[in-house]
Amino acid sequence: MNRIFSGVQPTNNLHLGNYLGAVRNWVRMQKDYDCIFCVVDLHAITLWQEPVALRQATREVAAAYIASGIDPKCSIIFNQSQCLAHAQLAWILNCVARLGWLNRMTQFKEKAGKNRENASIGLYAYPVLMAADILAYKATHVPVGEDQKQHLELARDIAQKFNNDYGVKLFPLPEPVIGGPAARIMSLRDGTKKMSKSDESDYSRINMTDDADTIALKFRKAKTDPNPLPGPECLDEHGHVKADAEAARPEAFNLLSIYAALSDAALADVVHRFAGQEFSKFKGELTDLAVAKLGPISGEMKRLLAHPDEIDALLRNGAERAQAIAMPILREVEEIVGFLH
Ligand code: TRP
Repeated sequence: MNRIFSGVQPTNNLHLGNYLGAVRNWVRMQKDYDCIFCVVDLHAITLWQEPVALRQATREVAAAYIASGIDPKCSIIFNQSQCLAHAQLAWILNCVARLGWLNRMTQFKEKAGKNRENASIGLYAYPVLMAADILAYKATHVPVGEDQKQHLELARDIAQKFNNDYGVKLFPLPEPVIGGPAARIMSLRDGTKKMSKSDESDYSRINMTDDADTIALKFRKAKTDPNPLPGPECLDEHGHVKADAEAARPEAFNLLSIYAALSDAALADVVHRFAGQEFSKFKGELTDLAVAKLGPISGEMKRLLAHPDEIDALLRNGAERAQAIAMPILREVEEIVGFLH
């Protein structure tokens, strides 16, 4: 059976980009794969987190998974720190991964910023922990966004080197599953930047916990341009948006893409439908659609978060099931490496 592993960091609220680009696709994968969805709290602390906020964010991500339709009875939902195999395997893989490989990781360079000397060792070793997450379950498929592709390549390199160094065929090489067309949802304030939980303006994103009024306000304030909505002249013969058209009006195409993703329609159809209309009217329809799709999810999240004990119990149960898979694999690894038991 093919196995999926993926995770989200509990470092802030989840937003529309996380939902459309990740969690919603995971919901659909549950029927075809054996799925493990993790709240990666060990990764979160590679950058400073307030302990109280971390605990709350961990519950929020778990609630978002469940409210979006991940079924905790069939899929495994847990927080990473409760399954010790991740950290233990990460250490072993730290001894397999090469400095030269990690030095090429672009995300480390971005996150560490100018003062690299002051970055935590954890931030540097982050991709090795991610490899451990995946390999601890011998996961075969990993749904990730574009920004994580390099890390997944590294996980494959580490798996391969482990297998080669020890002359075993232990780890399968995990395949990336890159999301559909909705994988890239951009900021509502700047159509050239990804929608991100670290953007300082909350108007740049729709959070999964935003209520109807907030969603309406954010779409009303969303950046546009003075022209009416683009029409079919911007599409090529395959119905894809031409690159120059998109580059000229990134905000317009972002809003149209959000509409298409939320309504499960092809972008070309949405372009045809709203061609030549004013933004104000389109934004009204977009708001109604977003409220209809996200309202039930944020309502369910609020209901779940009102009972943190239940979420904690659910995560503990998930962690037990995760350990039942990961611990025997860790044992196998330790045996191969030559550790005594
Ligand atoms: N690094 C991922 C992110 O920030 C989160 C993550 C951690 C992950 N471990 C993973 C994703 C394993 C997929 C598989 O988005």
